[in-house]
Amino acid sequence: MKIVILSAGRSNYSTKRLVEAAESKGHTPVVVDYTKAYMAIESRNPSVHWEGRSVDEVEAVIPRIAARYTNYGAAVLRQFEMMRAYTATSSLALVRSRDKLRSMQLLARAGVGIPKTVFASQTSDAAEILELVGGAPVVVKLLESTQGKGVVLAETKKAAKSVIEAFNSINANFMLQEFIEEADGADIRVIVVGDKIVGAMMRKGQEGEFRSNLHRGGESMSVELTKKEQNVALKAASTLGISIAGVDLIRSKRGPLVLEVNSSPGLEGIETQTGKDIAGVMIDFIVERTKGKRRRDKIGA
Ligand SMILES: Nc1ncnc2c1ncn2[C@@H]1O[C@H](COP(=O)(O)OP(=O)(O)O)[C@@H](O)[C@H]1O
Ligand SMILES: [Mg+2]
Repeated sequence: MKIVILSAGRSNYSTKRLVEAAESKGHTPVVVDYTKAYMAIESRNPSVHWEGRSVDEVEAVIPRIAARYTNYGAAVLRQFEMMRAYTATSSLALVRSRDKLRSMQLLARAGVGIPKTVFASQTSDAAEILELVGGAPVVVKLLESTQGKGVVLAETKKAAKSVIEAFNSINANFMLQEFIEEADGADIRVIVVGDKIVGAMMRKGQEGEFRSNLHRGGESMSVELTKKEQNVALKAASTLGISIAGVDLIRSKRGPLVLEVNSSPGLEGIETQTGKDIAGVMIDFIVERTKGKRRRDKIGA
């Protein structure tokens, strides 16, 4: 089966592992740098081109779109959808998962626990929105944050107001979130594939650091998920329509809360921590789904 991996980083651990897993199972993986791909939009014959050639007869597509290329990446993905390929994450689900405000609204509506969160526009009054989230300490997050870079803990009301005003002054979009102190600087990454949990790890920040991101020197360790945590992770992924997901949970006094749902979860940390062939599990799942889609397309369902 010809499987396109949309990735701007051919030498990236996750991309390499997906290529390796697909090859070892007898498939033909093709890494396409979607940032350099171009498309012909035609009603009869939509096509994607890359490096001077058209990318044809693609059966399945695995998007690994970087956050800053979400829009263009989603357009390339949509083009493959128009060419009737199976996509591991749909262009719609991809765009939705990258919109934190929308994701949080969908999760809350589905009854998935999230930390109390306030989104505000730049003109909002700092004191008022701080009041709404329950005062300090509070976590202030830039909406485009990754790797914990735009996440600040404001311990006092005064600090919180300064951070809000600073973000306002540079017209940054942010949200305020209740600080889950009892999590003690740790969160849990759960990898969901289809309706199964295929791996999980706990991540803990360095001493004195509330952010657990491995990029910030956090450490990973093994973790046993409770039934409740498993259900919350599965529900979060299915609510956002992401069949291959990295769900980040935080342990709070009122149970597991979802921090974010990632539609192209990194494989290095989780494979190293669990010793499992997660890439292989993903390829198996995608191949199954693609065969199912092909059968449905054939009978015109
Ligand atoms: N509301 C919160 N309470 C306590 N810790 C938090 C909260 N939100 C985030 N964190 C910690 O900060 C880290 C980074 O936050 P996150 O929302 O995942 O941003 P990013 O997308 O930049 O990784 C999380 O992994 C978690 O350890
Ligand atoms: Mg995170």
